[in-house]
Amino acid sequence: MTVVKTLGQFIIEKQTDFPYAKGELSRLLRDIGIAAKIVNREINKAGLVDILGEAGNINVQGESQKKLDVYANEQFISALSVGGECALVASEENEEVVLLNKAVSKNAKYVVAIDPLDGSSNIDVNVAVGTTFSIYRRKSKEGPATVEDILQKGTEQVAAGYIVYGSSTMLVYTTGKGVNGFTLDPSIGEFCLSHPNITIPETGHIYSINEGNYVHFPDGVKRYIKYCQVEDEATARPYTSRYIGSMVADLHRNLIKGGIYIYPTTASAPKGKLRLVYECNPLAFIIEQAGGRATNGYERILDIEVTEIHQRESIFIGSTKMVLLAEDFMAEYSPKEILKVV
Ligand code: AHG
Repeated sequence: MTVVKTLGQFIIEKQTDFPYAKGELSRLLRDIGIAAKIVNREINKAGLVDILGEAGNINVQGESQKKLDVYANEQFISALSVGGECALVASEENEEVVLLNKAVSKNAKYVVAIDPLDGSSNIDVNVAVGTTFSIYRRKSKEGPATVEDILQKGTEQVAAGYIVYGSSTMLVYTTGKGVNGFTLDPSIGEFCLSHPNITIPETGHIYSINEGNYVHFPDGVKRYIKYCQVEDEATARPYTSRYIGSMVADLHRNLIKGGIYIYPTTASAPKGKLRLVYECNPLAFIIEQAGGRATNGYERILDIEVTEIHQRESIFIGSTKMVLLAEDFMAEYSPKEILKVV
């Protein structure tokens, strides 16, 4: 008989990894899992938009349709608010941090950073999208939580994860003791452990970058891309180029198969495009826990000072050997001092 372990069962089992745990983090992770299922249900209906009505329109039940990223934001925030373990949320969808229902969360120890629906432009064309989240212990001990509570380096994350809504829906998370992946079984409505103890291959043959921006890349990145494209039997080059434009999906593939994802600085995004707090940090934590590496080309993502919630950062993330080599190209052709002068 096949033994199925659900996300809920797994979280409770793993609580014993933390001898003084009172179950708050477990409940928080469970709340995120619940919201993910609701969001997944709505994403699956996205193709029916011509039948059910576009976002902004009134649907057949007379309810107004919401854009999916707005909908996802509301679902995650509401699940965290009702759950009561989270004091404050920083979301890609909200300019300012959101203080949660004080009555329920007044003793809450945790704060959460989230990108509720990353790569949302892919929804219209039926391509995978994702959610990323980071959980921190709040810094203040009493009173209402403030933005300061979430302005913490990635190294302070207590847990982080992502959900990829793809050909199947998966939730992958870490609490700093390895990485585990759960696939949603729609027939029972549960995330089931499908990928225990995920480790990323030390090297791979996939590079993921928006090459349309090539002309604007730092020389180090240009040279690294050319390296990936050169024929060399010993290192199985040329590598394969794969870019979905949904970081979670690109990263998930590279986590399983081995590879590197790069979003460097460009002319239109001189500090990088991706957001440090709710995109780069959670994914960096996961990849490091899986044995990989995540830097901005020079320094470790998790060590970067956080000064604002929507801060941008460039990222080189994936299989350790590939990221290290890309960093060598940066050091040689785009040394940090030169970049600073430009
Ligand atoms: P968005 O949610 O605005 O679609 O952004 C997606 C993010 C990330 O997931 C993806 O890898 C990257 O931006 C794609 O950006 P480009 O279109 O510039 O390549």
